[in-house]
Amino acid sequence: MQPKRLLVTGGAGFIGSAFIRYALKNALKAEQVVNLDLLTYAADLKHLKEIENDRRYLFVQGDIRDGRLVEELLRKHAIDTLVHFAAETHVDRSIEAPPLFYDTNIGGTIALLEAVRRVQGVRFHQISTDEVFGSLGWEGVFTERSPYAPNSPYAASKAGADHFVFAYARTYGLTPTLSYCSNNYGPCQNREKLIPKMIRCCLEEACIPLYGKGENVRDWLFVEDHVHAVWLILEKGVLGESYAIGGGEELSNLSLAHLVIREVARQTGKSEAALKRLVTFVEDRPGHDLRYAVDPAKMKNKLGFTPRVFFDEGLQRTVFWYLNQFCYAQR
Ligand SMILES: NC(=O)c1ccc[n+]([C@@H]2O[C@H](COP(=O)([O-])OP(=O)(O)OC[C@H]3O[C@@H](n4cnc5c(N)ncnc54)[C@H](O)[C@@H]3O)[C@@H](O)[C@H]2O)c1
Repeated sequence: MQPKRLLVTGGAGFIGSAFIRYALKNALKAEQVVNLDLLTYAADLKHLKEIENDRRYLFVQGDIRDGRLVEELLRKHAIDTLVHFAAETHVDRSIEAPPLFYDTNIGGTIALLEAVRRVQGVRFHQISTDEVFGSLGWEGVFTERSPYAPNSPYAASKAGADHFVFAYARTYGLTPTLSYCSNNYGPCQNREKLIPKMIRCCLEEACIPLYGKGENVRDWLFVEDHVHAVWLILEKGVLGESYAIGGGEELSNLSLAHLVIREVARQTGKSEAALKRLVTFVEDRPGHDLRYAVDPAKMKNKLGFTPRVFFDEGLQRTVFWYLNQFCYAQR
């Protein structure tokens, strides 16, 4: 189904803003994109500068937990597709303060589902994460059929939200789609997340903290590939089905740090050896998942999706963007 009138939640965040830019630049048949975002610390409307004057775009500051507002937006704008990105997303913050993750990620998703149930005829797409499956050992991959086994409060809140999506499908006959994506990277990610933090530490010549021995492995996907995959699911995915989206770029955190350092050194002229000495191992995060990796077979075979941006190119673009952000003049 070609989505024409979209409500995007969390569209001022990292991935939601990439999705809105993608929708308005590539999907020319999109008639209306309403961005509902509370503007928490993680949001930044600057990410949407290039499309903010597009007559099809509308920003609404508001809370996904406000069911009446959501219902009003669905009706007023004759929304056919709701893409739900909004969430509290930082694992470390979820360990410090789990209740907000429960409220936003589970409570917010229920409020959206209730509004969709009342309005009817709205396609619901849930943006989930591979973290709901817990940790892999050194072997194996997550698929759409992997059992849920979340470890962090963040992952548990996302898993809880997904279960409400499934329950609403079975109980009330909604036909949502859902996607589990691996770790994203790219421009516009909040500075507290791993890659932006590494870049900032390099620029400030501050220690680059890595949990444990830096051996935890993540499967990285460039954010533009993620939003392209979501768009393919909206257009061609089977209603009621789930899709796992992976980058196929598995890296330990230590290898990642070395690649970021090499790229920052290349773009700034700083000494790679000196930057490597900034890497500092710190006490491990409680419940830290060892490894995530996603089997991309269903996305590839059913929807023809393969990532377009290799890690080297994606990292170059990411580092370049953050260097500009952090006002660092190239030597
Ligand atoms: N970043 C990743 O690597 C990754 C990987 C897989 C899945 N995901 C999922 O993708 C989605 C987006 O992640 P992100 O990294 O862009 O997050 P982010 O933290 O950058 O942005 C989240 C956005 O949600 C908004 N928001 C938070 N609470 C809200 C509320 N109550 N009402 C309305 N808006 C609210 C924030 O203001 C912010 O703009 C999340 O659901 C996350 O679980 C992220």
